Amino acid sequence: MLASAAETSSGKPAVTFADQIAPIVFQNCTTCHRPGEAGPFPLTNYAETKKRARLIAEVTSEKSMPPWHPDEGCGEFVGERRLTKDQIAQLQAWANDGAPEGDSARTPSLPKFPEGWRGGKPDIVLTMDAPFEVPADGPDIYRQFVIPTSLTEDAWVQGVEIRSTGTGALHHVLIWLDGTGDARKLDEADPGPGFRKMGFKRTGALGGWAVGGGPRILPDGLAYPLPKGGDVILACHFHPTGKPAPEKIALGIYLAKKPPTRQIVALGLPPVFARGAGLDIPAGEANYVIKDSLTLPVDTDLIAVGAHAHYLGKSMEAVATLPDGTRQTIFRISRWDFNWQDQYVYKTPVRLPAGTRIDATITWDNSSSNPNNPFSPPRRVTWGEESQDEMGSVGFVAVAANSWEHAQLASLSRSKLRGVVGGLLKEGTEGFLAAAKLKQAAEMDANHDGKLSGDEIPEKIRKSRLMNVLDKNGDGALDFEELKSAADAWRPLSRK
Ligand code: HEC
Repeated sequence: MLASAAETSSGKPAVTFADQIAPIVFQNCTTCHRPGEAGPFPLTNYAETKKRARLIAEVTSEKSMPPWHPDEGCGEFVGERRLTKDQIAQLQAWANDGAPEGDSARTPSLPKFPEGWRGGKPDIVLTMDAPFEVPADGPDIYRQFVIPTSLTEDAWVQGVEIRSTGTGALHHVLIWLDGTGDARKLDEADPGPGFRKMGFKRTGALGGWAVGGGPRILPDGLAYPLPKGGDVILACHFHPTGKPAPEKIALGIYLAKKPPTRQIVALGLPPVFARGAGLDIPAGEANYVIKDSLTLPVDTDLIAVGAHAHYLGKSMEAVATLPDGTRQTIFRISRWDFNWQDQYVYKTPVRLPAGTRIDATITWDNSSSNPNNPFSPPRRVTWGEESQDEMGSVGFVAVAANSWEHAQLASLSRSKLRGVVGGLLKEGTEGFLAAAKLKQAAEMDANHDGKLSGDEIPEKIRKSRLMNVLDKNGDGALDFEELKSAADAWRPLSRK
């Protein structure tokens, strides 16, 4: 036989590793599936790929690999990872044919993967002062690490990049700012590097990073504010790899050359990951839905979008209805995967005219057919910061198209946050605050010392963050002045 390419029994030219498969795998898989990266096994040569040919055909046809969660056609994003129909079909055909190698001399060489910072040398590098030991096995670990910025002047951050030690255990990082010192205290209270508890006050954010991701740079000269003196918090998700993995993570910060002319605004639907939205998911409920919406007061550019939920999250969607009635799905994840929290930057900012309504829908599955349900049998789940509690939202990074209209967009964001306080009242504090009608408070004041303290305050409030807000002088008790001012401030909200 003189034919240069092998043929299958059907007479069609065979799909071989050398000719078709290696280019697909090296371009789309090897970034993560190589030593030191988070893919659970390497895919860097014929033998490694052949060994998993069937599984590869499976995960690519069901589109779980390469990992990319936003649905096709619902916004276009920087760095999208998708295979074409043809590529998926070739992986199938190759597996069905017994994964032939073909002429190994024709196998392309592995791409040269960048070493060090992919975005070039950062202006600031903040590194954990000691490594965190990720154990060889056991459940996934969520842990926060505090790094002081030691900045003496306010700065503007155009983008960030994360470098792990390369154990492959680091899955994703959300980057928060804390200007209050709260997180430091939590760190001190928790032995070992970092802390586990998720509830600290966040005074800002610098976006996020996930496995396989390069630098995250905001487009159009936009920048995140980084006030001087505060701390950066790296909220990390680790996935044990089978070997002990000491991880010392570095955050590279790329500063903006000049202050941005337009300022970014965070729009959460619902805000604060649905805190105060009455999240209460009955055991067994397979389709629990929460919706939230807002109407843009000014022409707005959507720069980036992210979604958040825990194990019960099922899907999230955001639809824009323009003033002329046109509807546009600007974001959708129809198969939520808790392991892939990410932020997606639109290839071109999505310009929406004033008067556009954005409707977000978040769905949870608390039935036993959700394989990620942490409880078997399912239990009622409410809002909370532990991973077996729930949260959920779609969050946009937005800017007013015209810088002089920034204040109106920022004010929309603030009023959404005030709505959360209203929601908290509905969750059960209403009756308590009515106690600010001093007569009732006087009745609750069992020891008649003119203030409510200890057991006189319902536990639900005593142990909540609301207490920090109510207790203005920080003495751990609520005097009638404090109650009265809280009730005065919030009465209009509870009536809304
Ligand atoms: C962005 C990083 C990344 C890329 C790109 C990537 N993977 Fe993965 N892959 C992972 C991670 C991480 C896991 C472990 C499971 C998880 O976390 O979802 C994984 C798991 C797998 C698994 C095991 C799934 C199972 O059910 O056991 C297969 C097979 C796989 N990948 C194949 C591929 C193939 C084929 C490609 C290219 C078409 C690819 N991956 C691209 C990161 C990646």
